[in-house]
Amino acid sequence: MHGERNDDQARSSATPGAAEPDLGHHGDAEVADGLVDLAVNVRRAPPPAWLAGPIAATLTDLARYPDPTGARAAVAARHRRPPEEVLLTAGAAEGFVLLARALSDRRRPVVVHPQFTEPEAALRAAGHTVERVLLDPADGFRLDPDRVPADADLVVIGNPTNPTSVLHPAPVLAALARPGRILVVDEAFADTTTAPGVPGEPESLADRRDLPGLVVVRSLTKTWGLAGLRIGYLLGEPALLARLAAAQPLWAVSTPALAAATACASPTAVAAERAIATQLAADRDHLVARLTALPGVRVAGRPASAFVLIHLPGAARVRAVLRERGWAVRRGDTFPGLGPDWLRVAVRDRATTDAFTDVLAGILEA
Ligand SMILES: Cc1ncc(COP(=O)(O)O)c(C=O)c1O
Repeated sequence: MHGERNDDQARSSATPGAAEPDLGHHGDAEVADGLVDLAVNVRRAPPPAWLAGPIAATLTDLARYPDPTGARAAVAARHRRPPEEVLLTAGAAEGFVLLARALSDRRRPVVVHPQFTEPEAALRAAGHTVERVLLDPADGFRLDPDRVPADADLVVIGNPTNPTSVLHPAPVLAALARPGRILVVDEAFADTTTAPGVPGEPESLADRRDLPGLVVVRSLTKTWGLAGLRIGYLLGEPALLARLAAAQPLWAVSTPALAAATACASPTAVAAERAIATQLAADRDHLVARLTALPGVRVAGRPASAFVLIHLPGAARVRAVLRERGWAVRRGDTFPGLGPDWLRVAVRDRATTDAFTDVLAGILEA
């Protein structure tokens, strides 16, 4: 398949008649000096000492090539898997590229949208023709598994999903797994989710070893504010991960990134993640309450992650005025399945949310 299909062919499988969204646009392009950043969903708190210390300690050890053995074992232990079921990557983004390049035998790749655009972009760049399943805003972007073609041999879905913030039930996703299919679940934001009475991440498949062809994509970028370090990992069957590893450059994950992976896999880190997710849920409830009170604003689905998707007629204009007033939010129109009336807003502390929603209210009332 590599090299045989060009981008125009891939594009032909997109929504007929709709303008093709720019899959290469990301929230960081919306941020500029002087703007309060509600466009990028990376937590801003400085790294705690148990994380910053080990990363800093590697700075005296950079003459050596990185050795992922310890970090791989630590991540494997966190997810109760053997080390062969872990592949460390330079962020989740590298994982998507490895999947796209190594799985050239896939005949019918399907991406469930709206979702983070890099998986589809990577598949296209590797020569795949990608089909989209567009979830319905009227249904709160919930997944109807029957919409996924039965013979799709590669299915990519996010959970919780960026930008909808919808968290699909684990059994619904698990039911998509089957022999002959590779099911990629992007859990870059799974550590932001909570549910009452559930001690861990409520709908994660990261620890599931019984599902054929499952690959879980994880990122340490979001909760730990490590976007610049580039560290994430894939979880899945050893033979499949070995195929993906063969497509990876040598020493792809740096020694500081490996130190972060080890630190973030510790029980201390996991407990801290849970506490952060609990606080985030309260901050998100506050943001949702404030947004819901505004005229014309509709919050999509039941938000479960570090951001909230809103529908607002004239959102493109509102976003431009927000920028003039010092606020950056993420445009929605670059996500397949959304359009110019959608915006994504990051969950921040209450004071920031109050200041933002006051400005937004002023714009909407003008
Ligand atoms: C849903 C989702 N998955 C993956 C990524 C990429 O994460 P990383 O920084 O680990 O490459 C992002 C980044 O925005 C994302 O939103």
